[in-house]
Amino acid sequence: MAKEGADMTEETEYMIDKNVGKETENVESFGDTKEMRAVILSGFGGLNKLRVTKKAMPEPQDGEVKIRVKACGLNFLDLMVRQGTIDSPPKPPLVPGFECSGIVESVGENTKGFEVSDRVMAFVNYNAWAEVVCTPVEFVYKLPDEMTFTEAAAFSLNFVAAYMMLFEVANLREGMSVLVHSAGGGVGQAVAQLCSTVPNVTVFGIASCFKHAAIRDSVTHLFDRNVDYIQEVKKISPDGVDIVLDCLCGENTGKGLSLLKPLGTYILYGASNMVTGETKSFFSFAKSWWQVEKVNPIKLYEENKVIAGFSLLNLLFKQGRCSLVKAVMDKLLCLYEQKKIKPVVDSLWALEEVKEAMQRIHDRGNIGKLILDVEKTPTPLMASDSTETSEAGEEEEEPEGDNDSKERMPFIH
Ligand SMILES: NC(=O)c1ccc[n+]([C@@H]2O[C@H](COP(=O)([O-])OP(=O)(O)OC[C@H]3O[C@@H](n4cnc5c(N)ncnc54)[C@H](OP(=O)(O)O)[C@@H]3O)[C@@H](O)[C@H]2O)c1
Repeated sequence: MAKEGADMTEETEYMIDKNVGKETENVESFGDTKEMRAVILSGFGGLNKLRVTKKAMPEPQDGEVKIRVKACGLNFLDLMVRQGTIDSPPKPPLVPGFECSGIVESVGENTKGFEVSDRVMAFVNYNAWAEVVCTPVEFVYKLPDEMTFTEAAAFSLNFVAAYMMLFEVANLREGMSVLVHSAGGGVGQAVAQLCSTVPNVTVFGIASCFKHAAIRDSVTHLFDRNVDYIQEVKKISPDGVDIVLDCLCGENTGKGLSLLKPLGTYILYGASNMVTGETKSFFSFAKSWWQVEKVNPIKLYEENKVIAGFSLLNLLFKQGRCSLVKAVMDKLLCLYEQKKIKPVVDSLWALEEVKEAMQRIHDRGNIGKLILDVEKTPTPLMASDSTETSEAGEEEEEPEGDNDSKERMPFIH
């Protein structure tokens, strides 16, 4: 077994040498230490803060699993990390990324339950966007045989977050109604699929108009994100909805609360509204914070409403609820094996294409999840397709929120 792992390392290193592009010229030397490719965020800011470089390969510590990474998930949260819009981020330089899939290459002392060559997916507290990752065994899960590495990298964060919000926090049951923003995104599509596992659930989805044809069948009612969704929902359901899932924050908090039926639950789980350009905007940050409805518990009592917050990363990495997440993952893998859920993958990108991939989310172009495919060779860009930042490292012009990225999809597989 150990020999298989060593062979695989040599083979992959050969591919690295063949594939590394100009961005990896900046090779740091680590003497005899083995090196790996990784995406580095050199400081908080725009896309030009990201580059692929070589780093010393990590070795598993006590209780850790070392994974030869095949694919990594790229989430909206990663944009917020890049901009420095999240709470208490680690100091850059850092390797971003919270989830990956791959093959176990070795395990540390006292690490039980995994063997070399196991196919796995894992949560990582940063450092996922690399060829090799070490993470505590509590955050690692075996893949069903039929699940591909791409699917696995699109699975963990989105489906676990969606499941826990719907079933652990809001107690979704037959006949209820759910409103979800960004319905065409990674979490949005996971929410839609999980709602379809419960009889007679009505899903009100909100998404950019151009996604509607692709996702119409996944929800019951679909609205353009630019319409007054309160009025639209009330036309269909005058009493409102049972569950509001709000990843936008700002003015949507008050709107979401006003839409709740008695005993309904509003869950805040993101702050996408804070991202308005390529770099952190203090204006958007302040506006979003200012617009959040100030909640009076006495009003909640009078109106019979529940307000909740959910952060999977905090649950895992700060609050130690790994066993709860593991139980949820087991249920989700059963649903996957029964073919009731399946991650929607938008596109695959090489590590060297991370800037273009992030730009696609900024442009609201994705339907489903973006994946960094560690073994993919970068696709040459046509001059007219280029979204690369300048080599000189200047900040780029702020992208327009609504630009037509759906016509620029050079890397879809
Ligand atoms: N709390 C948690 O545990 C947790 C876990 C995972 C994700 N999240 C949150 O859930 C949300 C969705 O995450 P995701 O990773 O699945 O991403 P995603 O929905 O795939 O994100 C991209 C989509 O978000 C929408 N969007 C809304 N505001 C945007 C903005 N300011 N800039 C660009 N796009 C914007 C766009 O869709 P439309 O144009 O169609 O609206 C875009 O296509 C994010 O807020 C994320 O932070 C929270």
